[in-house]
Amino acid sequence: MIPRTAAPVRDALPRYRRAVDLDEALHLLSRGGWTPLAGGTDFYPARVGRPVRESLLDLGSIEALRGIELTRDAEGSEVLRIGAATTWSTIARALPGARLLALRQAAREIGGVQVQNRATIGGNLCHASPAADGVAVLLALEARLELASVRGRRRLAVDEFVLGARRTALEPDELLVAIEVPSGSSRARCGFLKLGHRHSLVISIAMVAVSLDFDASDRLERCAIAVGACSPAAVRLRALEAKLLGTSRSALAHRFEALLAGEGALLASEALLAGEVLAPLQPIDDVRATATYRRHAAVELARRLVAELALDDTPSAARFADESASGAPLAATGVALRFRVNGRERTIASPASARLSDCLRDELGLTGTKVGCHAGDCGACTVLLDGQAVCSCIVAVGQCAGREVLTVEALAQAAPGSIEQALRRSFVDNGAAQCGICTPGMLMAAVDVLRRHPRPTPEQVVDGLGGVLCRCTGYRKIIEAVLSAAGVDATAPALPLAPASPVASTPVGAAVGARVPRLDAQDKVDGLARYGADVAPADACWLKVLRSPHAAARFAYGDLDAFVAAHPGLLGVVTACDIPFNRFAIFPDLRDQPAIAEGVVRTLGEALLVLVGEREAVEAIELRDAPVHLTAQPALASPREALGGGARALHDSHPDNVLCRGRVARGDVDAAIAAAAVSIDATMRTRHIEHAYIEPEAGYAQWSRTDDGVERVTIFACTQTPYMDRSELASMFALDPSQVRIVPSAVGGGFGGKLDVSIQPLLAAAARRFGRPARIVYTRPESMASTTKRHPARMQATIAADADGRMLAYRFEGEFDTGAYASWGPTVANRVPIHASGPYRVAHVRALTRAVYTNGPIGGAFRGFGVPQSTLLNETLVDRLAERLGVDPLEYRFEHALRAGDRTATGQRLQASAGLQACLAALRPAWRDARARAEAFNAQAAATQRTPTPSTPVQGARAAAVGTRASEVVVADRASSDPHRRYAHARRRGVGVACMWYGIGNTVIANPSSMQAGLRADGRVVL
Ligand SMILES: Cc1cc2nc3c(=O)[nH]c(=O)nc-3n(C[C@H](O)[C@H](O)[C@H](O)COP(=O)(O)OP(=O)(O)OC[C@H]3O[C@@H](n4cnc5c(N)ncnc54)[C@H](O)[C@@H]3O)c2cc1C
Ligand code: FES
Ligand code: FES
Repeated sequence: MIPRTAAPVRDALPRYRRAVDLDEALHLLSRGGWTPLAGGTDFYPARVGRPVRESLLDLGSIEALRGIELTRDAEGSEVLRIGAATTWSTIARALPGARLLALRQAAREIGGVQVQNRATIGGNLCHASPAADGVAVLLALEARLELASVRGRRRLAVDEFVLGARRTALEPDELLVAIEVPSGSSRARCGFLKLGHRHSLVISIAMVAVSLDFDASDRLERCAIAVGACSPAAVRLRALEAKLLGTSRSALAHRFEALLAGEGALLASEALLAGEVLAPLQPIDDVRATATYRRHAAVELARRLVAELALDDTPSAARFADESASGAPLAATGVALRFRVNGRERTIASPASARLSDCLRDELGLTGTKVGCHAGDCGACTVLLDGQAVCSCIVAVGQCAGREVLTVEALAQAAPGSIEQALRRSFVDNGAAQCGICTPGMLMAAVDVLRRHPRPTPEQVVDGLGGVLCRCTGYRKIIEAVLSAAGVDATAPALPLAPASPVASTPVGAAVGARVPRLDAQDKVDGLARYGADVAPADACWLKVLRSPHAAARFAYGDLDAFVAAHPGLLGVVTACDIPFNRFAIFPDLRDQPAIAEGVVRTLGEALLVLVGEREAVEAIELRDAPVHLTAQPALASPREALGGGARALHDSHPDNVLCRGRVARGDVDAAIAAAAVSIDATMRTRHIEHAYIEPEAGYAQWSRTDDGVERVTIFACTQTPYMDRSELASMFALDPSQVRIVPSAVGGGFGGKLDVSIQPLLAAAARRFGRPARIVYTRPESMASTTKRHPARMQATIAADADGRMLAYRFEGEFDTGAYASWGPTVANRVPIHASGPYRVAHVRALTRAVYTNGPIGGAFRGFGVPQSTLLNETLVDRLAERLGVDPLEYRFEHALRAGDRTATGQRLQASAGLQACLAALRPAWRDARARAEAFNAQAAATQRTPTPSTPVQGARAAAVGTRASEVVVADRASSDPHRRYAHARRRGVGVACMWYGIGNTVIANPSSMQAGLRADGRVVL
């Protein structure tokens, strides 16, 4: 059982109040100490891993803050008034007309359905993120914001309200009450485009909202171009707007293009980018896009939108009367904390500000609802709140008072023949539940989709499931499962299902060519599978790890006893001293990684101190509160720096920072390349990749004694390698392996990332030190910061062929960044050379690798141990070689594929598993067909570009007439503000083929496996 949260002290700090009306809310705010809570979709993600300390003023019952109506503002002008607490899904549904298209387009792009159902327009403005869609759109629409306090009301323009990144003009006693959007003339039009993949919930790279209004002679008399995500707050490009004003509608697109360097330029000129026009933009450089790219993207989005809107002849008269709507009324204010869960009335003890997901799991024991991030990102926690899909991790328990919550546990109780039962069955039959951690969230989102669309299109399914991430299935099986539950034909004909009978009684051969239901699928579908965070003894204490904010540092502890004494609820701390041999590794002879650092930090996020105590108490403590005195040092950020002369050694055992080398050589590669008819060189760099499994590391440990007094530790945890965990734990705690019992939980995704020890020694040390079971659940940021990644590689290679095109030689060198500790570095360094030349017959090969220590994240196992990185380079070179030789890339690979009887570069003669030629032969018809289809598509797209189809919303003839590149104003999906969908016509298709080979086994360490067989008295064999 999971321990229950302590009995609540209602209205003790932090308080939670749902205001009856605006007056009460303003009165409370005037007394100070309250934080308004609207949808909570910005509030809760900002507090991952921390208890809520604010007193929350729930705005959910204030009628005056909700709804959309056509009215007149204080000056008598017609405006659309939107209550600040109106949700984005209400806005998306309530604005069917063209006038506020931009706002509706933005509403559809805020997170997934679950977020849109909760998130409000007012919260978006008040949070004032640089990437807030609402800020950019309302800036372009020249909206005015009404603020209220007991002192009175005031109205501000958007740029008077939003002052910078997360800074607004809102006073602590004020509420944002409403947003007023001027109606504009019947010739006004607006649009919104956002670059960033919504279905991956990616924060936008750039977004642009444009609003244009024309006078009676069709000249531009008002123009607003607002850019978001490219500066601390969305900004208007006023210099550009001024250059466009007065231009006739038909010449507008042309005029915009004339501002760019030269007719036909695809991207904005450097002159424009550097000039006054874009001066307000100050984009950031990060992993998603460079600053330059963002500036280019902003100009390009603006150019497309202006062209599209100018050429759009769709009538856009302001018809608000039929657009007004109001949100569904909430339950009455002041009700006790009671709500219905799965049809049962429940009185809740959790604090009202607690996350609904935690209340469901920890208080009600409904652990079918999973938690992957606590931030609204992964959707694993999706439940239905009054029938709407929401992320329960960002809904306050108080917001559910008087409402109905439905979790995955309810689906099994649904009536036979219901969509809930159909979905349960279909998920099992279609193999949609793999690791299963996303399955409950997927199912609840699917229930929501099918209730809204009983016969959904694939797009509706994709849209409805968009807020739930899956790292295992590639989504296809899930989409097929939902479609087939609805009786809609899924794309691929389903294979017959193997009989669901016990294996022993399945007729021989029945499973061949059939889908085999996974043994544990039903439990996963029903929310019954137990993952690391789902089980813990009731008396378990809670762990929190304080981690290094520096990649390289030295540190010392201050007075730990005084620190513990000053923090009620903190039982104590665990340091390296509590682990007898504080080193672990994958390779027993390379044990270099401490579970808790000992005065030296070698990588960001390394554990410095472990807090042990009551959950709320330890979660409230930050690193700055603890007596850990850190001195940062310069970090060796890359193998280049670590290998440079005089670089500091990370480990005394490896003074040159080279963990190990790998080498495979056959023939005389240099001579072969020198004599070759064709040779091609390439270099390539790859970066860290996070496994991003949905389930963060979690589990518990407890110590016991056997009857004869032998100490024993049991660890329940999500792990991919229980036996390796057992060896390492035995070594660290000076135990015999038989004294360590690892109980693996269901694993919510691992992909190699849960092969290394992570939480296990921390749990064991805490449980032993305090004589109580100890449990931990990593937060999402902590999981990402502290666990292994795919090794970044810097590689160079040369491929060479003779005059007949025969592949002759392959020369490869690669440095693999193994980070601060060895982990699986030796496997990567040794496995890559074996595979570097690919599954091809090559006479001369030399492949050299080095795994290099740096202060970077620890390089670990990630599907393929470095081979995917080297394959990228190898296959790129094979393609280039085929291109240079003028031969079909598939046929070239077929010619050179290793066959049975061939020797690999290491001299191994392949006898079996040499089926590459057969694979390529089987692929040949599909390859030819796909190439032909891509060519036809591209020819068609090019023709569309030249002669736009009149049926598209933008009149092709007009586009051609004004000299605009029509392809970019042909709109494929007008409702979408995602440029990839909206301009699908401008896309081109390509077809590629790549081969990879991969020898299984542990390469440089023993890979033992054993099995015991016994014979029962009745003659049956037991394995
Ligand atoms: C997975 C995910 C994806 C997201 N994607 C996007 C996206 O694509 N684009 C985007 O713009 N945003 C996105 N967001 C952010 C968020 O959903 C929006 O900004 C949303 O509109 C915030 O509204 P809320 O009601 O949830 O605000 P809350 O979280 O309730 O409040 C946010 C802040 O505003 C204050 N506040 C709220 N209402 C008022 C009011 N009326 N008066 C005074 N103060 C108030 C609160 O005190 C709090 O400080 C995403 C969030 C998540 C979790
Ligand atoms: S969205 Fe709630 S746990 Fe990830
Ligand atoms: S099955 Fe979806 S995350 Fe594993």
